Amino acid sequence: MRKISIAIDGHSSTGKSTLARQLAKSLGYVYIDSGAMYRAVTLFALRNGLMNDSLDRDGLVSRLGELELGFRLNEENGRSEIQLNGENVEKEIRTIEVSGHVSEVAAVPEVREKLVRLQREMGADRGVVMDGRDIGTVVLPDAELKLFMTAAPEIRAARRYKELLGRGEEVSYQEVLSNVRHRDHLDSNREVSPLKQAADAILFDNSDMGLSEQYERVLSLAKRVVENKK
Ligand code: DC
Repeated sequence: MRKISIAIDGHSSTGKSTLARQLAKSLGYVYIDSGAMYRAVTLFALRNGLMNDSLDRDGLVSRLGELELGFRLNEENGRSEIQLNGENVEKEIRTIEVSGHVSEVAAVPEVREKLVRLQREMGADRGVVMDGRDIGTVVLPDAELKLFMTAAPEIRAARRYKELLGRGEEVSYQEVLSNVRHRDHLDSNREVSPLKQAADAILFDNSDMGLSEQYERVLSLAKRVVENKK
């Protein structure tokens, strides 16, 4: 059976990763979390004193050559996890500190250039589900199935708040909501590859939709596209 590429873009905390991961598993495809790559670069900047009051852009750009990024399968949970210079940083990249700075890092053209190149290499063989902000527009413009996910900011903040509390992070709902709004603004208004729906992407508002309903719908869409490609 011919394999397709699936691009899932949209606002932060819309459940893109959960959906993309499930979908990849059902289809036997590779899942690539492009946001994890931007988060890993942000972690690198934080660890190397390149993020004080604001990002030291030139400093980061001059050290991009030192950054090696990839994904490796964690045998224990069956998930592919992000590696930064050989270290598994899947947990470290999910903190509110990284979330608070990642948009700034993702707005640097040289960072995007490097990560987009890597993402295209990873998606070159098809059979991939990739999620992010610019996958359908820039990284994989030829993807056979493109989704654009959104939901009301308050709903996304509530989901994210629950997730962070579950992980033992000390945050308030208001803090999470303002982070969600701030990231929406930065993601949609940056100069390079701003978040926008590709002309051929299907809009998916999941404000009132549970995980299993979303999953069933998207899986049947994907199967239809695969059938048509045979
Ligand atoms: O999906 P996420 O929340 O883990 O993404 C983290 C940040 O990275 C988000 O604020 C926007 C940025 N990002 C991006 O600019 N382009 C992508 N393809 C993926 C993420």
